[in-house]
Amino acid sequence: MDKIIIEGGQPLHGEVKVSGAKNTILPLMATSILCDGPLILGNVPRLKDLVTMARLLSHMGGRAEMDGNMAEFDLSSLSAPEAPYELVKTMRASALVLGPLLARHGRARVSLPGGCAIGARPIDLHLKALEAMGASIDLDGGYVVARAPQGGLRGARIHFETVTVTGTENLMMAAALAKGQTIITNAAREPEVTDTAQALIAMGARISGHGTDELIIEGVDVLHPATYWAMPDRIEAGTLIVAAAIAGGEVVLRGSPHAALEAVYAKIRDAGVELREEEDDLRVISCGAIRSTNITTQPHPGFPTDMQAQFMALMTIGDKASIITETIFENRFMHVSELSRLGADITMEGRTAVVKGVYRLSGAPMMATDLRASASLILAALAAHGQSEISRVYHLDRGYDRLDEKLTSLGARIKRLSD
Ligand code: EPZ
Repeated sequence: MDKIIIEGGQPLHGEVKVSGAKNTILPLMATSILCDGPLILGNVPRLKDLVTMARLLSHMGGRAEMDGNMAEFDLSSLSAPEAPYELVKTMRASALVLGPLLARHGRARVSLPGGCAIGARPIDLHLKALEAMGASIDLDGGYVVARAPQGGLRGARIHFETVTVTGTENLMMAAALAKGQTIITNAAREPEVTDTAQALIAMGARISGHGTDELIIEGVDVLHPATYWAMPDRIEAGTLIVAAAIAGGEVVLRGSPHAALEAVYAKIRDAGVELREEEDDLRVISCGAIRSTNITTQPHPGFPTDMQAQFMALMTIGDKASIITETIFENRFMHVSELSRLGADITMEGRTAVVKGVYRLSGAPMMATDLRASASLILAALAAHGQSEISRVYHLDRGYDRLDEKLTSLGARIKRLSD
């Protein structure tokens, strides 16, 4: 397994391009199941999770080709509407194929994703909503065995008791080919949901309300081939902003999604870091002195849970104490004990962390536990005095496109050692 060695204390300078959004490309790959020909995607990042999803689509009998930042998926000759455990267990977002398989092929056998480091992450809300559209859902040996009713899925009124991003995406895809109108209330408003809606519309879907908490989908008979350019990855952009903030220096992000990052920009500015929006780019200027700032994660447009671990790293060198509250996942503080190894002063109280800023962090060996925690450890190591070593960086490669190389190009002293 690879590990990353970081010599901290180096300010960052230069410019870096933000890659395409992981959490847009994953649902877009699932929409290819709905399409009666090839779906061509642009701005595709190089990520392990996307390779896993491509393997899943190939396993179903589809054609999945990825070349540089372009990809083509043709599932018109799909032969096996199923997602096996050995693929789903490594990438929970595989559950996104459930709605499209039911809508296009009337049946699906998809492994339950199981939990992950940050929480139980059930898909009960997905299943309940599909039943409201007439699907029969059985659980058999760890698999969801689903069937659409005679005549196909029927439009329905669906209310999500909890905001669910992939739940909203799954049902939006299912409703696109259902008979009649579907209304989804308490829908997720994440920019990646909106991006997925816009791609479906490009394929001929009739969707309105995307970006709000109420989606209206008029089912159509067929979705045609399309080409779609995915939005930039707002969480990668947020992670790079924190890198410049915590290390100090001046960095320009090429193609930062300003509108999708309003809550993050506001908190980074509260922390005393200068952000200048320069058309599609963002200039980040930091002297390295950080003001302690409180955050509470919320569904979009609130502060994103996927930026909580990275922001906590920044707060470890704050001037006072900050309170960080995680409301989305029940166990998304695995990075706390690792950050403490650098000398961070963090006290846990249930879903709240109190982070008392320290004058200086000191390098140490750490272990990554999940995707965003691995980014958090790298960010803290950039500011730590001396050498840090982060193991199990396969977590990082699942969701970041060569983040270590990007940071190195900005002047960070990072080495990747492959076992
Ligand atoms: C998506 O996960 C993202 N993944 C996650 O990003 C992100 O953290 C999360 O949304 C929240 O923004 C993708 O888009 C591929 P949820 P998802 O359903 O859809 C509970 C990353 O780092 N819930 O919005 O799985 C659930 O347990 C990843 O890129 C149910 O109880 O998250 C959680 O507490 C990590 N039952 C809350 O809702 C359900 O049926 C929100 O989860 C579904 C969800």
